[in-house]
Amino acid sequence: MNHITKPTSSGLRAVEIARSKAEAEKRPIRILFVCLGNICRSPAAEGIMRELTKGMPDSFRPKLDSAGFYGGHAGDLPDRRMRHAAFGRGLHLDHRSRVIRTSDFDWFDLIIGMDDRNIDDLHEAAPSPEAESRIARMSDFAVHYPEADSIPDPYWEGAAGFEIVLNLLEDACAELKKHI
Ligand code: 4NP
Repeated sequence: MNHITKPTSSGLRAVEIARSKAEAEKRPIRILFVCLGNICRSPAAEGIMRELTKGMPDSFRPKLDSAGFYGGHAGDLPDRRMRHAAFGRGLHLDHRSRVIRTSDFDWFDLIIGMDDRNIDDLHEAAPSPEAESRIARMSDFAVHYPEADSIPDPYWEGAAGFEIVLNLLEDACAELKKHI
């Protein structure tokens, strides 16, 4: 069994670099959550983080957004199953799916992928090594799930898959919030 210490040092390093960028420009950190379709995992992460940070003063509250690599759902609300599962936890998800752009790597300080494929795609799409240094893996912050190395794609799974995703994301977002 792997014993992974979380949050991982690589995740914390990306957050630290991202924070320095925001602090140098004297503004709140900007975080982009990224998955494949931008209708399940990343809009849920965005919604959870928005809820967790809503009480913060304007000058500190992070700017949040989400995007995906696959454009087949562009303009759509999150998947009905994810909206339903999130609603059960008091979250209203109203993000509209969009494809990630190269300019996102400049605008956002921290870019967070959900699984190996997202992370590989982000490294490929990043315009510079500096931008690559600000890519993090969401599961690196899931401290109560030390064995989780991704937020698994729930799209082809049953309802339980959406609850697992939300459990992981709630844990990871709560931990991430402590470091931003
Ligand atoms: P997501 O889930 O990446 O968490 O938004 C998916 C949504 C749609 C598809 C795949 C994954 N799709 O193939 O359409």
